[in-house]
Amino acid sequence: MPNAVIVGTQWGDEGKAKVIDYLTEKSDIIIRFQGGSNAGHTVIADGRKFVFHLVPSGIISPGKICIVGNGVVIDAQQLLHEIDELEKSGISIDGRLLVSDLAHLVLPYHKALDNASESSRGGGKIGTTGRGIGPAYADKVLRTGIRTGDLFDWEVFSSKFKANFISAKSQVEEQGNAWFDLDEDSILDKYKAVRDRLTPLIKDTSHYIFEASRQGKQLLFEGAQGTFLDIDHGTYPFVTSSNTVAGCACTGAGVGPLSIDHCVGIVKTYTTRVGNGPFPTELNDSTGELLRKVGHEFGSTTGRPRRCGWFDSVMVRKSIQLNGITRLAFTKLDVLNDLDEIKVCTHYEIDGQVTGQYPSCSQKLERAEPVYETLPGWKCDISECKEFEALPKHAVNYINRLRELCYNIPALIVSVGPDRSQTMGVEPF
Ligand code: GDP
Ligand code: IMO
Ligand code: MG
Repeated sequence: MPNAVIVGTQWGDEGKAKVIDYLTEKSDIIIRFQGGSNAGHTVIADGRKFVFHLVPSGIISPGKICIVGNGVVIDAQQLLHEIDELEKSGISIDGRLLVSDLAHLVLPYHKALDNASESSRGGGKIGTTGRGIGPAYADKVLRTGIRTGDLFDWEVFSSKFKANFISAKSQVEEQGNAWFDLDEDSILDKYKAVRDRLTPLIKDTSHYIFEASRQGKQLLFEGAQGTFLDIDHGTYPFVTSSNTVAGCACTGAGVGPLSIDHCVGIVKTYTTRVGNGPFPTELNDSTGELLRKVGHEFGSTTGRPRRCGWFDSVMVRKSIQLNGITRLAFTKLDVLNDLDEIKVCTHYEIDGQVTGQYPSCSQKLERAEPVYETLPGWKCDISECKEFEALPKHAVNYINRLRELCYNIPALIVSVGPDRSQTMGVEPF
């Protein structure tokens, strides 16, 4: 298989992990390159369910190497917890999980800062996952962050930690939020156990990837979040704090652009969003509730109900442009099984003008009214279907219409259920 990067084309939770798991069989190394434990990536294989926040979703496949790249912000306690859970399920990470020495750490004070910043926003909350992602990336950009590599020198680590802890304390208390009962020395003392377990995994992963690639190993880059949560291109300020688009795979893994042959855009066949911000095709009615219920649309990280709406081709077209998508992977088609009719947004009407172009300005997007076309539903269970051509006519037509609206990019797969087996290959690489 060619080297490929997998990205979400909407607001996250498109089913990226399911597709990663499906493609892992033909890859050697799976690399997370951005985000942190705000991600919730679900894989269901042979009836067993795994939810990953930091560990790449390829870890359940024996023999595959998984890398947490330099662009990820790592909550080491969460990472160790995931490793423990995997070991309990009989999956060993021994020699298979590497962590970049350049990745920044999410430390306990980042979570306190995240929550304090959200509470100070009053009615304008972002609706973050509370995992400390924004403050950790802020420290990185401010050049006050602490990297995994700093754990090798405890004196360096503890002096940086103490300075940041004290500065965070004053910010949090200024905003009237509660601070830790423990002082910085007690927290640091506890962190020694984390250091002891994490340091054996820490490597120059960019070099590792380069050498492995030279030996012909196949790379699979695992994106987190979705295109419209990108810090530059998303619905700012209702976004996450990293670049989520495919280009970030290069900086976040430490590879050059020619290391990536394909970009697979994961497309949920309707739309969901967790957290606040504009959502033109949102359904605040019984159809929205039905999608939530049938699609189990509750956040994998926070358990929050996901907002649901119709498929929005204006967004996905923009996503194709931003990511350079070469294959589309359509997911959750089975969730639409019971609908008489399915709407698809083809254009927006903004200030009286109909346009097929996504407005990059969030304020304009707030005013966008979706223009819909209506397609017939198929009204039967497709979750056992094994081949695209065997799907009911209206289901095939629905996917073909989505493709037409999305620059006719070939469909790599169509997914009709959460299990690995419920995946139909359509047009291979
Ligand atoms: P990710 O963050 O993009 O990896 O997606 P999540 O794991 O957060 O959310 C996707 C959810 O949909 C998970 O619970 C998956 O098990 C589930 N899922 C994935 N593909 C399908 C599908 O084709 N049909 C159904 N019914 N569920 C799916
Ligand atoms: P995966 O990888 C869906 C959303 C949050 C919030 C905004 C900012 O599972 O698709 P943050 O904690 O990142 O500062 O929150 O981003 N968000 C996600 N929504 N799926 C995700 O990840 C998300 N990660 C962050 O809900 O609106
Ligand atoms: Mg998710």
